[in-house]
Amino acid sequence: MKRVEELFEEHVANTYKRQPLALVSGQGMIVEDVRGKRYIDFVGGIAVCALGHSHPAVVRAISEQARKLMHVSNLYYIPQQGQLAELLAQITPKTIEKFFFCNSGAEANEGALKLAIKHTKKKRIIVMEGSFHGRTALTVGATWKSSYRSPFTALIPPVFDFVPYGNLSSVEMAIREDTAAILVEPIQGEGGVRIPPDDFLPGLRKLCDEHGLLLIIDEIQTGMGRTGRWFACEHWKTNPDILTVAKALGNGFPIGCLGAAAEIMSSFTPGDHASTFGGNPLACAAAMATIKTMRRLKLPQRAARTGEYFLKRLKELESTHSCVAEARGKGLLLGLELNSSETAKKTVELMRERGFLINLTADRVLRFTPPLIVERYHIDALVEALARILKELE
Ligand SMILES: Cc1ncc(COP(=O)(O)O)c(C=O)c1O
Repeated sequence: MKRVEELFEEHVANTYKRQPLALVSGQGMIVEDVRGKRYIDFVGGIAVCALGHSHPAVVRAISEQARKLMHVSNLYYIPQQGQLAELLAQITPKTIEKFFFCNSGAEANEGALKLAIKHTKKKRIIVMEGSFHGRTALTVGATWKSSYRSPFTALIPPVFDFVPYGNLSSVEMAIREDTAAILVEPIQGEGGVRIPPDDFLPGLRKLCDEHGLLLIIDEIQTGMGRTGRWFACEHWKTNPDILTVAKALGNGFPIGCLGAAAEIMSSFTPGDHASTFGGNPLACAAAMATIKTMRRLKLPQRAARTGEYFLKRLKELESTHSCVAEARGKGLLLGLELNSSETAKKTVELMRERGFLINLTADRVLRFTPPLIVERYHIDALVEALARILKELE
């Protein structure tokens, strides 16, 4: 571990607050560190490894494709890209017909914003307080936390209008002549697992229709079955004009995409947008294996059932521990908000020492984004460990 840390100290950019842990292998819900200590993983690479670590179907698809052909560039047709797009069209909301492939969530949002501007020929974007959309100059501009934005304001175009999340009348007031789109997460993940009021997403849809705006729904964290539906916007029967997906799409293999109605996507013509790696044979093979396996295992439905049980167990902690403010979430995107950030930090540390990986977001919200294959006995073990630790810290 010392050598690992030394190499980082000497040669790796210091952009992350890393925990003193180096993981070297994983299988299903379990990951193992350099010392051979095992952990039950309730982070899942931050909502990425939905099928669990090293799922055999994904490993097989990647290995077979790697032996055949990894990369060729988008100068040519990539058969796997068409097949993946067809699969995605089957699982995404019915308004989404065509896809552009990239390598990360931020890139997907970046592409979505470019498409919205090109399609509407307008320039302003309404975004939400508490949002997180990525770290490129454009997407960090759409992200709420000012400490992420402020060192880079010189690079951020002055086109983003922030409004309180969940407040429809503020959104309506922010609409201007030159507003192109509204960009929104159906549930804010990094923002602390915040669920908007039930009328919010349908209300945004209505405002977009009335004012000729595009509704861009960022499902990078909430998508691919995480909240108990393939996409969280389905909970509110709200169809996006543009949808962004990444994280769990390749179960750990980097791939992202934006999807849109064919008519909207037709605003992109050759030369408008591109990515060298985007949708290469290897990434598409990983994503297709992920989607097919998720379908076979009915993972969205499973996440809904397991998530209900998990939330019930977290609610027990809410009612029995004075340091817990609220348990909330949908499916397997769950949060336990504590009353103090110190207690939250300490809890993550003690949980790790006792063999559980959990994540902290929005200062004092313990966030749980386990693989969607998580079993009740994992949840019981986690809740018992949490109960003990919270009691110790109270
Ligand atoms: C809602 C949302 N959008 C965008 C992103 C950015 O994705 P990436 O880190 O792959 O660029 C994230 C990452 O956490 C996210 O949660």
